[in-house]
Amino acid sequence: MSEEKKSYYITTPIYYPSSNLHLGHTYTTIIADTLKKFKKIQGYDVFLTTGTDEHGQKLYEKAKEKNMGDNPLNYIDPIVQSAKDLWKKLDIDIDSFVRSTDKAHEKNVQEIFQKLYDKGDIYKSTYKGHYCVDCEAFWTESQLKDGKCPDCGRDVHYHEEESYFFRLSKYKDRILQLYKDNPDFLKPESRKNEMVNNFLSGELEDLSVSRTSFDWGVKVPFDDKHIIYVWIDALSCYLTGIGYGQDEELFNKFWPCDIHLVGKEIVRFHTIIWPALLMALDLPLPKRVFAHGWILFNEDKMSKSKGNVYYPEPIIDLYGVDALKYYILRDFTFGNDGNFTTERFMNRFNSDLVNDLGNLVSRSVSMVEKYFDGVIPQPNDNNDIDKSLISVVEGCQGKVEELLEELDFSNALEEIWKVVRRANKYIDETTPWILIKEDPERLKTVLYNLMDAIRVICILTSPFITETSEKIKEQIGISEIKWEDGKVFGKTIAGTKVQRGENLFNRLDIKKETERLNEVNDKLIEERTGKKVSELRDNNKEEAPKESKKKSKKAKTKEEIIIDDFDKLDLRVGQIVEAKQHPDADKLLVFKVKIGEETRQIVSGIKNWYEPDDLIGKKVIVVYNLKPVKLRGVESQGMLLAASKGDKLTMVSLLDSEFEDGATVS
Ligand code: ME8
Ligand code: MG
Repeated sequence: MSEEKKSYYITTPIYYPSSNLHLGHTYTTIIADTLKKFKKIQGYDVFLTTGTDEHGQKLYEKAKEKNMGDNPLNYIDPIVQSAKDLWKKLDIDIDSFVRSTDKAHEKNVQEIFQKLYDKGDIYKSTYKGHYCVDCEAFWTESQLKDGKCPDCGRDVHYHEEESYFFRLSKYKDRILQLYKDNPDFLKPESRKNEMVNNFLSGELEDLSVSRTSFDWGVKVPFDDKHIIYVWIDALSCYLTGIGYGQDEELFNKFWPCDIHLVGKEIVRFHTIIWPALLMALDLPLPKRVFAHGWILFNEDKMSKSKGNVYYPEPIIDLYGVDALKYYILRDFTFGNDGNFTTERFMNRFNSDLVNDLGNLVSRSVSMVEKYFDGVIPQPNDNNDIDKSLISVVEGCQGKVEELLEELDFSNALEEIWKVVRRANKYIDETTPWILIKEDPERLKTVLYNLMDAIRVICILTSPFITETSEKIKEQIGISEIKWEDGKVFGKTIAGTKVQRGENLFNRLDIKKETERLNEVNDKLIEERTGKKVSELRDNNKEEAPKESKKKSKKAKTKEEIIIDDFDKLDLRVGQIVEAKQHPDADKLLVFKVKIGEETRQIVSGIKNWYEPDDLIGKKVIVVYNLKPVKLRGVESQGMLLAASKGDKLTMVSLLDSEFEDGATVS
């Protein structure tokens, strides 16, 4: 009968429930969910697996520390519940949440181990070497970096114990061939080089796949002195998630996996060990593995014990799910590390969500209400200005699709925001408030076009900021979001009733909100660690500065210049004689500045720090020979100097406030 939908299988790693998940952990899952929503709206049948990685030495030791070593689940269960609650709060659409302690999964792990053994790919010997408990990883002497774990930098422990081994060495050539035959198998490219250079160019050693010194794990089916290595257990969750061993139909529908999303530190497990295991099991290999970077705190990896952690819950509670999703997807370049700061988060919120998107929707819907009783008018012919808007709108979906195939969420959103900004500019260009008096027929076309641009924006944003997209949908009166409707202009039905709702987003006072967010977040850290944040951070300060910190300081210094470069600047003293709010941008102020004989209009983005009236009469420094630009429709002839650090800002002024304006500065 109906043609079967194409299937698409996405996984995220299964998380260690060793402590509550932080902002960094939400990264993989937000990406996975956005990709899922995108593929789904494109018509795929999508399946998303995630879960919790509950066995192994790390969890066992954590539980023992809390006197729950005899039943680690007592320690683990509440954390697993909080992870599930978090995904729900983030509106993550999960199809299968695999706990590695689920009986069905444990049975699969044993069967897999048995199969590998029967095939002759597992043999018994003795392991002699190092182990990093935090990464649950074995390391040889020569792989260590300054005696520490090369992945996380923590201490490793030497141990010797009887162990079963998997013949990983046997699969080295096939893995290299896999990379060659499938250039997309592992992205970004730099990670592939890392795998080849660090692990596949020399000898690839067989992998120890069982432990005997503790028993928090799945028992080796034919030797119950041994438990199965936690990474074999964990990786198998990707199979359990889609019914391996239980639901053949489901399994055949979704395997091989279309994309495993992982953090950069666990690439080796997913692109060497995992394909080798699948080869040994004669199962088809995943199509792609995509490795993202880390979200950092002060250029350092997030860590609860250092007090260096942001939790997603306070951000969601204070600013909403979409604020967090938008920020994560827009601000971080997939594959690279990036720093989380409240300032960056709030600046994006104010500029992109409040000023650009929120304003566009509220202005446009209000005008339809005010000028046409809330009914979208019938348009007339389009002129050149209209056509320019339309071409930006119609070109957008194709670009978004292409970028999302490459998991470039940031640029995909940037493309959508080009439409948002173009539509705002269209309002400035067409001046509806004048048209209502001078040319109401023309106004019909203008408002129709605006509403149709918003309709397309509503469709395109729906995989990213679903809640907001739904709100826009309600306001502009479309009944269903269909992806294919986002490709063409003019699908809005004239006569549709609009309904202005509450503001989509309200502007944040950055200073105040930073204090508030930090306060709530710090409280949560204290609740979850039982320690004062100030103590945790003080301990941290005593440690030597991290390499990455030193580097980042350097990177911020600009290139050296010679005096001739400086001479190109014409700096003058000016006196502010008038200061007003920009008509169309919350964070901009429009100044009249007297510079000698002349008075100039200068637009400056300092509204978050100053009230306009407080600045009148102040002497400031003006970049006098800066090429004039229009900022949100208002001409700006020059720039005012200000000093800033973090989320603080102050205008640069003169020590002698009587000094005359027009003077040059050098
Ligand atoms: O590795 N920024 O679990 P995990 C970005 N159980 N991503 C981060 C991050 C940060 N600051 N911190 C963590 C494990 N992550 C194994 C996986 S899969 C068969 C077994 C990401 O809880 C990290 O990169 O340590 C990884 O992708 C995920 O969170 C789970 O990490
Ligand atoms: Mg980890």
